[in-house]
Amino acid sequence: MASQEEVFKKMVSHCKEYGFVFPSSEIYDGLGAVYDYGQNGVELKNNIKRYWWEAMTRLHENIVGIDAAIFMHPTTWKASGHVDAFNDPLIDNKDSKKRYRADVLIEDLLAKYDEKIEKEVSKASKKFGDSFDEQKFRETNPRVLEHQAKRDEIHARFKKAMNDNDLAELKQIIVDYEIVDPISGTKNWTDVRQFNLMFSTEMGSTADGSMKIYLRPETAQGIFVNYLNVQKTGRMKLPFGIAQIGKAFRNEIVARQFVFRMREFEQMEMQFFIKPGTELDWFAKWKETRLRWHKALGLGDEKYRFHDHDKLAHYANAATDIEFEMPFGFKEVEGIHSRTNFDLSQHAKYSGKKIEYFDPETNSSYTPYVIETSIGVDRMFLSIMCAAYKEEVLENGESRVVLSLPPALAPVKACVMPLVKKDGLPEKAREIMADLKFDYNVQYDEKDSIGKRYRRQDAIGTPFCVTVDHDTLTDGCVTLRDRDTMEQERIKIADLSSRIEEKVSFKALLRKVAND
Ligand code: GAP
Repeated sequence: MASQEEVFKKMVSHCKEYGFVFPSSEIYDGLGAVYDYGQNGVELKNNIKRYWWEAMTRLHENIVGIDAAIFMHPTTWKASGHVDAFNDPLIDNKDSKKRYRADVLIEDLLAKYDEKIEKEVSKASKKFGDSFDEQKFRETNPRVLEHQAKRDEIHARFKKAMNDNDLAELKQIIVDYEIVDPISGTKNWTDVRQFNLMFSTEMGSTADGSMKIYLRPETAQGIFVNYLNVQKTGRMKLPFGIAQIGKAFRNEIVARQFVFRMREFEQMEMQFFIKPGTELDWFAKWKETRLRWHKALGLGDEKYRFHDHDKLAHYANAATDIEFEMPFGFKEVEGIHSRTNFDLSQHAKYSGKKIEYFDPETNSSYTPYVIETSIGVDRMFLSIMCAAYKEEVLENGESRVVLSLPPALAPVKACVMPLVKKDGLPEKAREIMADLKFDYNVQYDEKDSIGKRYRRQDAIGTPFCVTVDHDTLTDGCVTLRDRDTMEQERIKIADLSSRIEEKVSFKALLRKVAND
């Protein structure tokens, strides 16, 4: 059986071969950690965005959307703390000349200890079968205990170093635990330094005096600076939220795992403004609501977990990540943060404007607190792709690659195919397609055998294939083939639209998020 790593590599090639994701400016050999979405990728991405947008703004009367500019006044980033503190600790290896994030090197080491423990557990589980008591084994096996103790020791030092912003200690951990460069295999490290992740550029001509501005590293600040505009023009009452989808840019030191860590990416962020003192209740509610949104897609409930932050930003009083099990481990897809009134207070301070809410219930004014939910579109795309990509061996011995995408998110909902390219079948197929296209993104395909056409649609995750044959012309029926079961069923053309709708319905998906 192929390893997770091999399957991941195949999935990445599949993304390119079937028009989902291409390296940016590939004819010039690409640009590090920048990607373009192809004809199928953009449809899937748009559907993810639609799912998020509608779940936020339609299912919640008190959440509205905005679309702020990428360029913002540079003081925004001073106020938000990004100019001074949006840094990653970097370290260079003097032999390979490669640059790494010191925290990631240490996290990788921690992950190695986790792997060692899991290996021991899985070996023992196979050996003892049904009589295996996993909890007891974890608590008593000497090798597991040894690995766990080492892990805990490293973790405690790492957590403290990160909390104290102690760069020398981060370097010392790398030295003490003999972390080697994965490329050169050596321990010849520089000191750890801070590296600001924001891209900057100049606005205006130099003759007039130009201004250094930044490409936004998060969309959230566009929401904070518009808090008063939206609250006043929308006559919004607390609690209320502002949602936004847009590009963000970070000069990541280590960009890896395909679209997981990019230098240009897209975020879907929502800031929920609340009364101070209610934040921990709202934090718990948003954790639950967001997890439900993920789980409704049916990718597997066991693939999600929360990871509460060890290191809280000084202004946050709770923070968690929703992690998804990728082939390279559980990884953050979404962050949920209780950010107190830090951002609004900072903008009030730097702009000199009063940014407050007049509460008619208490007859007093205060700066609202904020719960933020922040998810990367590209990471969501990746998690869906990883869960959906499957290589199957069929009963007849043939194999197929299928993307079991959540039907509502699939780029193409149905492909209409005439059995042969003659006898009026193409015309009939086109007629059916001309009707369906008002409801769904549908394709027409008349090339190659039906089997090959099915495989092409499986590979892009199309939930249905609709075949028009000679009988169709007389009985008004078509063959509907299901992507997942591969079962074929004869149904009336008149019932086609409703049958497709049953499976790909956005409404049904949204109802799940609202009612589950
Ligand atoms: N406003 C809060 C914020 O930006 P974050 O944890 O830095 O928080 C939120 O980012 C989400 O944005 C992450 O959970 C991830 O899904 C996505 N994200 C962050 N950096 C990314 C990158 N370099 N490439 C792709 N997605 C990224």
